[in-house]
Amino acid sequence: MGHKRLTKNDAPKNITDHEHVLNENDFIVSKTDTKGIITYGNRIFVEISGYSKEEIIGANHNLIRHPFMPRIAFKLAWDLIQQKKEFFGFVKNLSKDGGYYWVFAYITPDLDTKGSIIGYTSVRRKPSTHAVEEITGIYKLLNDAENRGGMKASEKLLNEYLEDNKTTYEKFVHELQMGAIA
Ligand SMILES: Cc1cc2nc3c(=O)[nH]c(=O)nc-3n(C[C@H](O)[C@H](O)[C@H](O)COP(=O)(O)O)c2cc1C
Repeated sequence: MGHKRLTKNDAPKNITDHEHVLNENDFIVSKTDTKGIITYGNRIFVEISGYSKEEIIGANHNLIRHPFMPRIAFKLAWDLIQQKKEFFGFVKNLSKDGGYYWVFAYITPDLDTKGSIIGYTSVRRKPSTHAVEEITGIYKLLNDAENRGGMKASEKLLNEYLEDNKTTYEKFVHELQMGAIA
């Protein structure tokens, strides 16, 4: 009753290299309201986060935002889901112990019968090792761009990268997870 809503400001400051690895068959599921406040998390989501169910339900989803993640990734996600589209992406998440875990995430809007967005659902699986290696390099470049010129710069870099590789974000992400991009 009446406890504080946790946000990224309450996240651990002692970031470590301790990786929590998902099992091949795990699905991590969470749901939010329209603002990104967590309304549901399955058992694996709660476990890997390191928080108690009481702490994490009602928290802002950015509680598990890892500082390594470029801001552009979340902008892309929110821009799509607010337009009732799906988002796929690779996300490094922060656990309460300061460790991390990588996921291949899918986010989709929840609609009522009139088609209005009433919240969002995310399902995540273990990403391929190859995808994590590739995306780590790309996120580093996007972070550098953001440090120099903000999200405008990282957005430009991402678009140039996709153009150079004659692909789209969605195609790129799927091929990466399927292992089609060497
Ligand atoms: C259903 C859903 C699931 C989300 N899952 C994650 C997640 O696993 N990790 C994460 O960092 N952000 C996730 N987000 C995005 C967060 O809402 C937020 O945009 C992000 O953590 C960046 O927060 P910030 O802009 O306050 O730094 C999710 C959003 C929604 C709607």
